[in-house]
Amino acid sequence: MGHRSRVRTLAVVAAGALMASLLTGGGAAAASPPTPGGPGAGDPYYPSYGNSGYDVQAYDLGIRYNPGSGLLHGRARILARATKDLSDFHLDLVGFTVRSVTVDGTAATWTRDPHELVVHPAAALPREHRFAVVVRYDGVPEPFRDPRSGKPVGGFLRTPDGGIAVGEPEVAAQWFPVDDHPKDKATYRITLTVPRQFEALSNGLSAPRTVRGNWATTTWRLRDPAASYLAFVAIGHFTVHRWRTADGLPVIDAIDSGITGSLRRRIESSLARQGDIIAAESSWFGPYPFEAAGAVIDQVDVGFALENQTRPTYVSTFWGNPDRPTRGDDVVVHELAHQWFGDSVALRRWQDIWLNEGFATYAEWLWYEREHSFTPQEIFDHNYDLNTADAPLWTVRVGDPGPDRQFDKAVYLRGAMTLQALRVAVGSADFFRILRTWAHDRRNGHGTTPQFIALAERISGKSLGSLFDAWLFTTTKPPRPAVTSVQRTGATTATGTARTAQVEAAMDRWTAGLQERVSENAR
Ligand code: ARG
Ligand code: ZN
Repeated sequence: MGHRSRVRTLAVVAAGALMASLLTGGGAAAASPPTPGGPGAGDPYYPSYGNSGYDVQAYDLGIRYNPGSGLLHGRARILARATKDLSDFHLDLVGFTVRSVTVDGTAATWTRDPHELVVHPAAALPREHRFAVVVRYDGVPEPFRDPRSGKPVGGFLRTPDGGIAVGEPEVAAQWFPVDDHPKDKATYRITLTVPRQFEALSNGLSAPRTVRGNWATTTWRLRDPAASYLAFVAIGHFTVHRWRTADGLPVIDAIDSGITGSLRRRIESSLARQGDIIAAESSWFGPYPFEAAGAVIDQVDVGFALENQTRPTYVSTFWGNPDRPTRGDDVVVHELAHQWFGDSVALRRWQDIWLNEGFATYAEWLWYEREHSFTPQEIFDHNYDLNTADAPLWTVRVGDPGPDRQFDKAVYLRGAMTLQALRVAVGSADFFRILRTWAHDRRNGHGTTPQFIALAERISGKSLGSLFDAWLFTTTKPPRPAVTSVQRTGATTATGTARTAQVEAAMDRWTAGLQERVSENAR
């Protein structure tokens, strides 16, 4: 049927349904025909990411990857629930040849659009119906390239010894069919089959690997639901270290075997601190939200670390400079803090990204205080003074930075400064109560900026609209919060010019480290 006549038919049917519902007074009697799900989740930053009309509960992914040929064979089993009467629905998928699709065991047809796999089930899916989609696909997975620079910044990236799927927000659709938006969290089982001489890492905990002929299979499971960009795979030659923190949390670390010597030792010494870091963060934010932790350090040319659920990925360049022995610790503190803020409490809209990056950056400040006894207020003051009224930091509305500035330095730094301004306004006791309540009440869920502001107002009993407005939604430098000297330096520390010099040197190091880390984020 031609496009026009189909549109006209639908219009007639819709008009008929409207008439019927008017005549019967609406309600269940007026059965409207099932309609297609939408190709996006309604996020203005990324209109084609995610979909509408259904909600995914679980992904069961079977991935076979051959580092030699770069070829990936995938089988994705997706359990979902229709949120309306669905005639067709979209998944996000970039590249690959789709070989077959079934819905509830019955063959379905499909069409492709850039970024989309549109599934046409044999029978419509009634609202509330739970259904299983199985997609078989294969091909050489692709990186996501920055539209302007053409540089690979996410997706599936080849490495010298394999590949890694990592990125934010662009990654999931480059390796499996997915409802690719953090608002649709789901559980994951990821079964990886690779030539037996390779390691295959992913989220959560794994069953012992099985070997059949030249191939080895490892099944990874995440107990708690995750946003799609936080699922990852890394395949290659790794030294894998399984251990437990003093609190008994299982940790799985994997360092690329090509990383050796003092660089490897610096990385290992940071990773050995994960138990201490998680303990410190648990004391600030409440219990660690997941069943496992760990790290993957791979040789891949992206400038960022990523907070994959339970197991962040890092690039070795974070430990590349021996003059800055603590710098690697900072980024581990940052990615582990995301397990509370970003992973367990996820975004519902990408514009709220400061709820991830500002909070994880603030955790670095708390760690700095614990390690070096420089206070968050001192780091705040240093950066407040460094950035004069005309500095770029103040031109970004960090509460709605726009997709091009989603990972701008301001989202990290002004985001963390927002939290310090909040702390000064409500006092430390209420401030930590707010953070812990946020992490507790929204554990394994979502939060938005207005919800965070409402919680802060409820707990403090203060009206905070103008504070958040100045820090998150203006393009001018906010007024300096009024602090007492005890708030500024803490009760225990020395004062005087020697301390001032030390503070300035330490602050310069932290600020330079942040600058280096976010410099690759511009896109
Ligand atoms: N969430 C990452 C972090 O912890 C940043 C990812 C940046 N992504 C990007 N495509 N530049 O800082
Ligand atoms: Zn971050």
